[in-house]
Amino acid sequence: MKRMRIVDCLKSDIPIDDCIVAGWVRTKRESKENIFIEINDGSCLSNLQVVVGVGDSSFDIAQRLHTGASVYIQGSLVPSPAVGQTWELKPNIITVFGDADPESYPLQKKRHSFEFLREIAHLRPRTNTMGAIMRIRNQVSYAIHTFFQQKGFLYVHTPIITTSDCEGAGEMFQVTTLDLHNLPMVNGAIDYTKDFFGAKAALTVSGQLEGELLAMALGDIYTFGPTFRAENSNTTRHLSEFWMVEPEMAFATLEDDCSLAEEFLRFIFKWVLEKCQEDMQFFNERIKPGIIQNLELIVNSSFEIVTYTEAIEKLLQSKESFEFPVHWGMDLQTEHERWLTEKYFKKPIIVIHYPKTIKAFYMKLNDDNNTVRAMDVLVPGVGEIIGGSEREDRYDVLITRMKEMGLAPDDYWWYMDIRKFGSAPHAGFGLGFERAIQFITGMQNIRDVIPFPRTPGNARF
Ligand code: 4AD
Ligand code: MG
Repeated sequence: MKRMRIVDCLKSDIPIDDCIVAGWVRTKRESKENIFIEINDGSCLSNLQVVVGVGDSSFDIAQRLHTGASVYIQGSLVPSPAVGQTWELKPNIITVFGDADPESYPLQKKRHSFEFLREIAHLRPRTNTMGAIMRIRNQVSYAIHTFFQQKGFLYVHTPIITTSDCEGAGEMFQVTTLDLHNLPMVNGAIDYTKDFFGAKAALTVSGQLEGELLAMALGDIYTFGPTFRAENSNTTRHLSEFWMVEPEMAFATLEDDCSLAEEFLRFIFKWVLEKCQEDMQFFNERIKPGIIQNLELIVNSSFEIVTYTEAIEKLLQSKESFEFPVHWGMDLQTEHERWLTEKYFKKPIIVIHYPKTIKAFYMKLNDDNNTVRAMDVLVPGVGEIIGGSEREDRYDVLITRMKEMGLAPDDYWWYMDIRKFGSAPHAGFGLGFERAIQFITGMQNIRDVIPFPRTPGNARF
């Protein structure tokens, strides 16, 4: 007897006499002659309908089943007379592993708010939305690896525990085994030589610095891992723990970086449209109407590249009254990013050459001594999904930049060494994986595109 996933049952070309399907009851409905049970096993959005007749041996057990119960059903896949479905399951034996008390099982048939579902994140994977999100995350991950593997990029693993702040923003989660009630002190300060790593350590905010070291030996590389930011941002676009994809290209410039980012995003979007049709249809109908057409348009048209200065001019010329007044030198706020992508260009844009004062120390300085060779990809609805740059590969310029930004070059001696020995132009970027999933699915809140979100005040589940 063949154990089958529901996705394969529903795609079957032929009836199957003997098969086993296992999953969880989504709904149960009774008529005079039959009990209809919808089961879902997570393999696809659709449920498989199980029809139990009055005289059937499994009728009694079917009668006692509740929403949420786990069932293991031996039966036959037969053509369904019902509209909208090809197959249904006629059970011979239903085994119930675990029932779910209807009085206390929180996931009843009615629609629940996303806020409520976040409170029950342990059961949330059983909802249509989280199921679809998880399948899309899976396919996007596959697309990411496929894209870079096809281009010959090497998948590398950079450390999660680090002693340097890549972004220089000081938003790091400290990692320590020191006794917080009895800290070792030296000259009035904590003596980190006594800590586990002999130095003050933290969770990484980005794998970029180590990624650069690897690119300067191996050529094009990419990382795909979790990153952590202790930033107290309670927005719909920020997580304290999120996944980032960071390619780094050797012997490459800002222009190569922009081309790669655009090709990469279009590849992923196309992949999802092809491989996740049912789930995308769901998001198109239930979450954000038009999202499929939107993605199709993006797959088939090119991004707009604008300089930061041009973007500021467009914002200044707009008749919009922004909460944060626009001036050259400011960091673009979400409202500005959204105006540019949604109202002005109406498509994804790449903003390049930002003022050096608002960007990280490692970005290559332009000849104007004022802007850096940075690039951010902004998309409608979400804003920034990619941040990257050409890297400062000139030893002396980098030292000056670091000092300007209050960083001690000695702390980054190994990073500086790469500029001393065989330095070469190189560039890369970071894609926020959850922001990409948000954009693809049209989900409003980033907390609903990751199964167990970590945000200020919340690391439950
Ligand atoms: O722009 P960021 O800070 O760039 C870097 O970390 C570089 N080291 C990347 C590189 O060049 N290798 O972050 C990159 C992306 C952002 O564009 C955004 O999509 C996402 O990471 N991101 C977040 N996503 C969710 N929650 C947060 N708190 C995020 N912060 C950044
Ligand atoms: Mg950024």
